[in-house]
Amino acid sequence: LALPKKSIPPKYFYEEPGCGLFEAICELPEYSLTRTEPGILRERAAESARFVGPECQLIEFGSGSQTKTRILIEAMQPPLYAPVDIAEDTLRASSAEMAKAFPWLNIVGLCADYTRPLAMPEFAGVPIRRKAVFFPGSTIGNFTPGEALVFLEHARKVAGAGGALLIGVDLKKDKAVLDAAYDDARGVTARFNLNLLHRINRELGADFQVNRFRHKGFYDPDRSRIEMHLESLYSQFVHIAGRRIDFAYRETIHTEISCKYSIAEFQELGERAGFRPEKVWTDPAQLFSVHGMVAS
Ligand code: AVI
Repeated sequence: LALPKKSIPPKYFYEEPGCGLFEAICELPEYSLTRTEPGILRERAAESARFVGPECQLIEFGSGSQTKTRILIEAMQPPLYAPVDIAEDTLRASSAEMAKAFPWLNIVGLCADYTRPLAMPEFAGVPIRRKAVFFPGSTIGNFTPGEALVFLEHARKVAGAGGALLIGVDLKKDKAVLDAAYDDARGVTARFNLNLLHRINRELGADFQVNRFRHKGFYDPDRSRIEMHLESLYSQFVHIAGRRIDFAYRETIHTEISCKYSIAEFQELGERAGFRPEKVWTDPAQLFSVHGMVAS
């Protein structure tokens, strides 16, 4: 916030109540992503199980996607499921749910930032032929294409040579549809975005008056991406950890991008990161894609 262009990395959205607000976004009629992706996975469950093969270690980046992960676990019957999540509460709760649903499944949760090098523990006594990284929800869109490339290279290392990647990617679509998805009528996305300021107040003892900021979320077709900002409604200042931060009238804090890709664009990105695109599945309206790639 001390830089000339103020920004907050989107990973800070995901604490409580941030995770709960994100779940509420996923229920919104305007936000199709989270309905379309499980539909594709359900439809293609057997095919995706054949794609990863038997005895795979299913590594999930993030752990919030209960419905989608369950579809894969049922189809793949992996001996080991390893969710990696920065939010410890969510990780513990979802791992406990999974253990209840699949009593036969070995589960090991890793509380870590999955964008950083990971020390994945070794598992004695668990038969594993291949690693498969599952990264659903088009979270890859929250990186710039350059960051996405670095991230995919990192995923390739985690999967290891011959390992698989199953990744959900939101597709380019009409601006009006995307604008509504990120600035919904009920204001849930606004609450999710503004919660960042509440969180800074709570955790860093800041004095943001949150009602003096507003949420902005819109699609920029030239950059094929959603931008989310928090806009200052006044000229004002706040104190954070003993520092004063000034805001001009209408100055924004950039909080998130959400890039949208065509299928060909994303396959090219995967290839540049050292993956071989093998499968791509979409819904009939071509709103969303799930890519199956193999690490070379
Ligand atoms: C987590 N991620 C894929 C969501 C997205 O669509 O970019 C986060 C989100 N932000 C606002 N609405 C949803």
